[in-house]
Amino acid sequence: MRLSAAILAAGQGTRMKSRLPKVLHPICGEPMILHVVDRARELGADPIVVIVGHGAEEVRAAVGQGVEYAEQAQQLGTAHAMAMARPALAGRSDAILVLYGDVPLMRAETLRDLIQTHRESGAVLSVLTAVVEDPTAYGRIVRNEGGEIVGIVEEVAATPQEREIREINTGIYCLQDGWVWPRLDRIRPDSRKAEYYLPELVAIAVGEGRPVASARAQDPDELMGINNRVQLAEAEAHLRRRVRERLMLSGVTILDPPSTYIDERAAVGQDTTIHPNTHILGATSVGEGCQIGPNALIEGSTVGDRCRVVASIVRDSHLDEDCSVGPFAHLRAGARLERGARVGSFAEVKAARLGPGAQMAHFGFLGDAEVGEGANLGAGAVTCNFDGSEKHRARIGREAFVGSGAMLVAPVEIGEGAVVGAGSVVTEDVPPHSVAMGAPARVRDKGGQEAESCDG
Ligand code: UD1
Ligand code: CA
Repeated sequence: MRLSAAILAAGQGTRMKSRLPKVLHPICGEPMILHVVDRARELGADPIVVIVGHGAEEVRAAVGQGVEYAEQAQQLGTAHAMAMARPALAGRSDAILVLYGDVPLMRAETLRDLIQTHRESGAVLSVLTAVVEDPTAYGRIVRNEGGEIVGIVEEVAATPQEREIREINTGIYCLQDGWVWPRLDRIRPDSRKAEYYLPELVAIAVGEGRPVASARAQDPDELMGINNRVQLAEAEAHLRRRVRERLMLSGVTILDPPSTYIDERAAVGQDTTIHPNTHILGATSVGEGCQIGPNALIEGSTVGDRCRVVASIVRDSHLDEDCSVGPFAHLRAGARLERGARVGSFAEVKAARLGPGAQMAHFGFLGDAEVGEGANLGAGAVTCNFDGSEKHRARIGREAFVGSGAMLVAPVEIGEGAVVGAGSVVTEDVPPHSVAMGAPARVRDKGGQEAESCDG
């Protein structure tokens, strides 16, 4: 069975009270509609057509390539939205899966059940239902004595008895391609809101004596629709819980799940321990056997095996294995720590590489710099990378030793094995294996060669 998907995302989302289109509000770090697109992709739906209206340009920009778009300029209801997708969808698959940009939590398994029911039953329409505690605001599934679906009634139109029904329409359907398109034209606008309602298809199918099938979702929480920011926070909590549980079941220790925030795209290796109040965001990958947190934020970074990151911020950076960061370090874009490197407290690193085993154990700033293997930067050493108009690079050779409080005024190079005295202001290159000190620094010991006089 060839499957395509329609994702309805044209509505305004008035109740969000936001300038941002509702479907672009993030959940677990990603616009909610991207979660829906990901599910459709996971199921192999092709094409995937996103129906946009409100904030169409912004929504297109966020969803990007790899899907097709249909425009619904005026939001005249869910059936009208589907009709707008007809040119993009008709004849291109056997069944169309209907999803919503504001129902982002459903799992692929749940949708697979619906698709399988649809395929095996030969129904023209299959609907995903759920039994909920509080069915308020949902369409109710009306069945006959034989248990067959005879219709879906919206809350406003429901009789008092129908309102008691706790089996609800999730709004997610599988529709037979050949059947659905002419039927959409037969839907008449609802008398109250003058909108064209997609659930009317059920009554049409039943009226034609065509089979209607249904699948029931096990966990109604995954089908929650997001209409306001209270529900947005609930969805966020739900998805984060799911991500943490997946990681814990795959071998990650999370000491305090409620204070641990991990985005869906992040990966964490086996036997890593995540301490309280830790955020692992974006496409971050953390290796095995690490200790992360407490109070760490890692975003868009890769962290090798057996690293330690305590009370620090690491963004767009790369750590090889066995590195140690923090407490209170800030790794900014382009920081690269090679095997066993260490960045300690109150240190900031930006666009800089620390070679294997290199150390910057205390406060200081390293920016636009290369630090060779085993080099050591003392407390308060700083690369002065900015001259007021341009950035310059500093190079510190292998096994070099930069004393406390030294200012390395870039562009500058400290040679391999060289020593820079505490408090020096280095404005010129320091040759390998020499000793330089003072402000401005002078080379005093050329590493066994002739030493420059410094007391003249
Ligand atoms: C809909 C169903 C209801 C179901 C509920 C589940 C209808 C008439 N009712 O109600 O039976 O229980 O979902 O959450 O379908 N949209 C458009 N264009 C439009 C109208 C809506 O793209 O013209 C999109 C919205 O952006 C939203 C989705 O369709 O993503 C659902 O629309 P909404 O108005 O929220 O329907 P509900 O009242 O929630
Ligand atoms: Ca809704």
